[in-house]
Amino acid sequence: MTELPATVRAPELTVVVPSYNERDNVPELAARLGRVLAGIDWEMIVVDDDSPDGTSAVVKELARRNPRVRCIRRVGRRGLAGACIEGMLASSAPVVAVMDADLQHDETILPDMLGHIRAGRELVVASRNIEGGSKTEGLSPVRQAISDLGRRLSGMILKAPLSDPMSGFFMVRRDLVEEIAPKLSTAGFKILADIAASVTHRPSFAEVPYVFRERVHGESKLDAKVALDYLGFILNKLSGGLIPLRFIFFALVGTTGLFVHMVSLYLALGAGMRFAAAQTLATFVAMTSNFLINNEITYRDARLKGARFVVGLVLFYAVCSLGAFANVGVASWLYAEAAGWWLAGLAGALMGAVFNYAASSALVWRR
Ligand code: GDD
Ligand code: MN
Repeated sequence: MTELPATVRAPELTVVVPSYNERDNVPELAARLGRVLAGIDWEMIVVDDDSPDGTSAVVKELARRNPRVRCIRRVGRRGLAGACIEGMLASSAPVVAVMDADLQHDETILPDMLGHIRAGRELVVASRNIEGGSKTEGLSPVRQAISDLGRRLSGMILKAPLSDPMSGFFMVRRDLVEEIAPKLSTAGFKILADIAASVTHRPSFAEVPYVFRERVHGESKLDAKVALDYLGFILNKLSGGLIPLRFIFFALVGTTGLFVHMVSLYLALGAGMRFAAAQTLATFVAMTSNFLINNEITYRDARLKGARFVVGLVLFYAVCSLGAFANVGVASWLYAEAAGWWLAGLAGALMGAVFNYAASSALVWRR
């Protein structure tokens, strides 16, 4: 035998595949990688967050027959970005790629992407937003709009002008990732944008177009939580990391509360309630909704359950009431000191938000 078996030659390329409930997709992905990466020393590391459908068992079974396949089963943790980071750091290949497990990413462009890295590029992004690429096949109009907004906002924080910064399909030199790994956030779907914002220099990069395919098995995990997380990430970077991510989430959740309040008020008035009663009801609905979302997202690491959930909710009502006093107090004082109505109003609202945040962190979601 002139050629060493693949198990002995170290891989040049590690394809990191984050997975959650993808048992029907991963074997097919491994088969396709085997075909398109023929002639390349590659491996696939599936990073599975202990999927209830048993994805990791399926992958490990596959790995018994195919030594190019590895699996990291993470227990007690969730998060796409964290899974990608962990997979990339488990690699010792000079080049790492990240791609989804669900076959929506076009694996046939991988050799082309590797070609760009071999030619000296540090980062190659598979893009839906350049000539020859498309995102229309797999995206709803709402997702399209969110994606466009995200792209415009992230333009302000990235070290490279990427056309598809939210792409979950890219290839990068591993040394670049190793250098910035401690700075990367493990929550949400923002791994590529985080890398492109955290590098210390402008990376040399290339983009390869691809068509985002329709999902066949399983379902998408991208939800409002993921979108909020992305927005929080961008605002945090825009403030130079000065404003804590948690406060940004808290304030964003507060903004959603305003909408909830107005919709509730409208419905209550429509149902024939008197204004004062309707306004009181709307206030409680908004506070409750804020509490629920904050418990899910802002303070997910200190999430309240059972009896502590009820106590927390009551405490939160109390905190918000005090916050309202602080808000009105500051605003009225400034207004009396001849500040413009909008400045007084804004300062009051900010005071209320900061008070609610500080008191909630100290009392409601004590860690
Ligand atoms: N380990 C792990 N943990 N994997 C996860 C998690 C998690 O918490 N959440 C999602 N995944 C995996 C999925 O199993 C899939 O392989 C991949 O990450 C992408 O998740 P999807 O839920 O299929 O995302 P999508 O198709 O809706 O979103 C696409 O567009 C996004 C925004 O443009 C993907 O291409 C994303 O990568 C991209 O960020
Ligand atoms: Mn998908």
